[in-house]
Amino acid sequence: MGLERVQAISKQSMSMNTIPHEFIRSENEQPAITTVHGAILEVPTIDLSDPDEERLVGMIAKASSEWGLFQIVNHGIPSEVISNLQKVGKEFFELPQEEKEVYAKPQGSKSVEGYGTQLQRELEGKKGWVDHLFHRIWPPSVINYKFWPTNPPSYREANEQYTNYLRKVAEKLFKCLSLGLGLQEHAMKAAIGGADLEYLLKINYYPPCPQPDLVLGVVAHTDMSTLTLLVPNEVPGLQVSRDGQWYDVKYIPNALIVHIGDQIEIFSNGKYKAVLHRTTVNKETTRMSWPVFLEPPLDQVIGPHPKLVDEGIPAKYKSKIYGDYMYCKLNKLPQ
Ligand code: SIN
Ligand code: FE2
Repeated sequence: MGLERVQAISKQSMSMNTIPHEFIRSENEQPAITTVHGAILEVPTIDLSDPDEERLVGMIAKASSEWGLFQIVNHGIPSEVISNLQKVGKEFFELPQEEKEVYAKPQGSKSVEGYGTQLQRELEGKKGWVDHLFHRIWPPSVINYKFWPTNPPSYREANEQYTNYLRKVAEKLFKCLSLGLGLQEHAMKAAIGGADLEYLLKINYYPPCPQPDLVLGVVAHTDMSTLTLLVPNEVPGLQVSRDGQWYDVKYIPNALIVHIGDQIEIFSNGKYKAVLHRTTVNKETTRMSWPVFLEPPLDQVIGPHPKLVDEGIPAKYKSKIYGDYMYCKLNKLPQ
């Protein structure tokens, strides 16, 4: 089992200075060839504490329409809360392999929760240079502590603290995104699940790679849930696609990265765009990231909001339950 983990493959590859062929991407995906270097365009950075609400709503709506991704600063999450989350996550991944395997996703489990390495059903069967840990963090009724590491001992407290602050940020973003569509402030949150919205944490662990120009961490995709709120460590690697080109997202200490996911694109009838993104890896250092996916309950019906359809604009997306949307996306079936 341990040998399938990219963390173990990385150690071997670093000493041999070469990587297994199943990680080598075709030329149209290799980051060195497909990235716009020294880009003039930059992902928007938004000050969430801006007291001028109209201006804030305008900035968030513009960034969500033009990029589907932005960074937020002054979001109210204390920097030590973020660094504690990062510290305990890093300590977990630095445990001996057999201690991590205790948290491995059980075979045949339908849930994504647990420690693992993606079995990416990708074209050409290539693998991503990344291991992960998934577990839900909110609401309490969906938390399964079986997948929360007990080592380091402060893992739980650090995650709970981060979750409490993150929920406030999410509320503010949903409000601004609703107002930006000309809707009531609670419209979006209510339509995607209200208090039943589930917060799913993923920790990505991208170990060093001797040939980073040839591989990807996570292959190009859009996030299928509503919003993704992410903190990375200080190692750059997130890239976004815009107008068919790949751009590096600048690392801003303590900023939170916000991704618009498929369900918000659908709800907004295409006004907001789910962002196509991917990650690259580093030659010397481990990159890590902590995305939190805000997921609707599986039986939540999501479709374009009626007010965004009436005015001579047809619905661009079908309404369907989130469980069916997920099933189609994971099995590459038409929506
Ligand atoms: C992802 O989008 O799945 C990962 C993003 C990141 O590691 O920054
Ligand atoms: Fe993603």
